[in-house]
Amino acid sequence: MSDKAVSLSEIDLSLGRGPSRVHVLRGISLDVEKGEAVGLVGPSGSGKSTLLMVMAGLERPDSGRITVAGTDLGRLDEDALARFRGRSIGIVFQAFHLVPTMTALENVALPLELADAPDAQARAAAELEAVGLGHRLNHYPAQLSGGEQQRVAVARALAPNPAILVADEPTGNLDEATGRGIVDLLFRLKRERGATLVLVTHDPGLAQLCDRTVRLRAGLVEEPVAA
Ligand SMILES: Nc1ncnc2c1ncn2[C@@H]1O[C@H](COP(=O)(O)OP(=O)(O)O)[C@@H](O)[C@H]1O
Ligand SMILES: [Mg+2]
Repeated sequence: MSDKAVSLSEIDLSLGRGPSRVHVLRGISLDVEKGEAVGLVGPSGSGKSTLLMVMAGLERPDSGRITVAGTDLGRLDEDALARFRGRSIGIVFQAFHLVPTMTALENVALPLELADAPDAQARAAAELEAVGLGHRLNHYPAQLSGGEQQRVAVARALAPNPAILVADEPTGNLDEATGRGIVDLLFRLKRERGATLVLVTHDPGLAQLCDRTVRLRAGLVEEPVAA
């Protein structure tokens, strides 16, 4: 049994059809230890978001092996993969991706209800308290600021206590001070829960907060250069 949070071996993936087909990931191998925070950096178009989607089980590679918390994702059928994702992987996007017709509480309760948690509403309320939004439970996303929406998204991602948390430029749509608050929150909750974090960022200051930085270039992991 592996004690890695994530293990990627020779991941290869092309996306698109015909002339727009792109060889996005070109043989990526990468291990992330349990409890580690890894910053994923690299130029625009280098494959960071796609790699995160593969780690999150939202995109299947053409070849290669991906193991998350000891489970080989390639061995799961679509239903089992969806269940595994709901339990074990938390995702935070740049653009929040909340359900607009649901309140903050309903958004956070949703993954818990899908996982048949008996106390979904109470747990969702506690998660919103933990991100400082105990006073906004019944607000809809449109009634919340960008920073507040991202706090709801963080609460939703962490509610099932996932083994890994992946975040794709989570501060990209926020001003600097608000973004800083989200980053502090992500790292605090990661520490408290003992979760593993893989964070895509353009911000060198943010990457520095991670235990380690992995740089992608044109679908490959760039070997670290000694300083
Ligand atoms: N569905 C798709 N079809 C075709 N090409 C895609 C698709 N998704 C991503 N790409 C291409 O793959 C490359 C990597 O994209 P992405 O993972 O979003 O990079 P990054 O997040 O590092 O900016 C880009 O050149 C992009 O145009
Ligand atoms: Mg991206």
